[in-house]
Amino acid sequence: MANQLCIVLDFGGQYNQLIARRVRECGVYCEIRRYDTPLSELRALNPTGIIFTGGPNSVYDPESPHIDPAYFELGIPTLGICYGCQLMAYTLGGTVESCEKSEYGKIEITHGEKSLLFAGVPERSTVWMSHTDYVSRLPEGFRTTAFSADCPCAAFEDPARKLYAVQFHPEVTHSVFGKEILHHFLYVVCGFTGDWVMQDFIEQTVSKLRQQIGDKKVILGLSGGVDSSVAAALLSKAVGKQLTCVFVDQGLMRKDEGDFVEETFTRLFDMNFVRVNAQAHFLEKLRGVTDPEQKRKIIGTEFYNVFWDKVRETGTDGFFAQGTIYPDRIESGKGDEAGHGSTAVIKTHHNMVKMPDDIAFAGTIEPLAELFKDEVRRVGEKLGIPRELVWRQPFPGPGLGIRIIGEITEEKVRILQEADAVFRDEIEKSGIAGELSQYFAVLPDVHSVGVMGDHRTYDHLIAIRAVTTDDFMTADWARIPYDVLARISNRLCNEVAHVNRVVFDITSKPPGTVEWE
Ligand code: XMP
Repeated sequence: MANQLCIVLDFGGQYNQLIARRVRECGVYCEIRRYDTPLSELRALNPTGIIFTGGPNSVYDPESPHIDPAYFELGIPTLGICYGCQLMAYTLGGTVESCEKSEYGKIEITHGEKSLLFAGVPERSTVWMSHTDYVSRLPEGFRTTAFSADCPCAAFEDPARKLYAVQFHPEVTHSVFGKEILHHFLYVVCGFTGDWVMQDFIEQTVSKLRQQIGDKKVILGLSGGVDSSVAAALLSKAVGKQLTCVFVDQGLMRKDEGDFVEETFTRLFDMNFVRVNAQAHFLEKLRGVTDPEQKRKIIGTEFYNVFWDKVRETGTDGFFAQGTIYPDRIESGKGDEAGHGSTAVIKTHHNMVKMPDDIAFAGTIEPLAELFKDEVRRVGEKLGIPRELVWRQPFPGPGLGIRIIGEITEEKVRILQEADAVFRDEIEKSGIAGELSQYFAVLPDVHSVGVMGDHRTYDHLIAIRAVTTDDFMTADWARIPYDVLARISNRLCNEVAHVNRVVFDITSKPPGTVEWE
């Protein structure tokens, strides 16, 4: 049974994925489509509702993404957000002007007239605004439903045509009643019933996988990350021993993590599990390499080289599976699916790789291709993957390789693994882990003089990093209490051989990134 569909029409805004995630959190299946998707295609998709995203542009800029006025004849309930709101007004004959004073940040709005969107929302509430243009005159048939001190049309609507618009961003948590407003649009205006349920997803996917795979074999490269682990569990539920998971342990995982992955999958899931211990191979390839991007490339490429070698041994008479998730498909290569407003490629991810010419499978299977990360975690939990693995903090594909600054050696990996384990242990024991989005140790290539007992030492510096963030696009350094910092510092110097100094990274993002490389 197909789910009801909401389309997020992407005009290049930075929050377009967030909008889609929020819609899914409301129990509504949602996909992001380019703003210039032909109307015939939109109609054929038969969406129950559409949301226009924000965008970096002004509607008067000829280069800016526009919409065919005929769109509004399709009769699809539509919510315009920020640029999407201005575009709706402009396309239907209203006027958009530059604000005398642009609004940015938390702004108070007042909603006056009765609007379905604002049902139950207090008359005054805080929303997140970020705009330099505003709608100064509404198109015919519309009425204003909310305003702020500097924005006369903070929300407007034409209920007869089911067209709604908000200048603010309901998808951002700073908009205090944003979730309610989206919910009202989806359920009351559009008539969604909330049929996007994870348990249904699992059952439907398992039955589709069984049908697609038949009695053939499937091979999956397991990295130990959340996505490939959940894909493995789903495939195991569908086809059991027809699945072979090749776990490439590059030797750059956290302390004991490789063993934990092996233990989990061999004990809890029905499959063939093959572990390749490849640390020596990776260290050989990384010898003398200090450039961060180069390290990323080597680790990413070698993961697959080792994997392909194993595949050649195992045979390719079946399907190739991978844990691609929805954001991987949106981001890969061109910044975003709309191909505009694309953000610069900052780091190389290795989710999308080309298969070697000599390897040919019957087909590729990506059982998580429609899911956002939080949904992948929920599926993982339902499938019985331990919480420790499913809810673990983000860990970069290149592993500790990009947390060891400079050349990577076996000894440095060992020191960092030990230090990182002590740091994480102390954070967890202190009961503050839940407040942090990510926390880890870094081994900068720095030695410093110290004193231990009567001896002078010249040993490694460990940096500790802890951040809080909603989306990892920006992040703040975490205010770890001094007494916890003191225990961490003590333990690192006392328990980890070759560490004689500890520093705490107090850089937010921007200007820093979360990782050091
Ligand atoms: P940055 O350092 O870019 O990190 O602020 C943001 C988030 O992304 C993770 N990260 C990576 N994940 N491959 C990954 O799979 C990578 O190369 C990579 N680099 C950074 C990082 O851990 C943080 O959660």
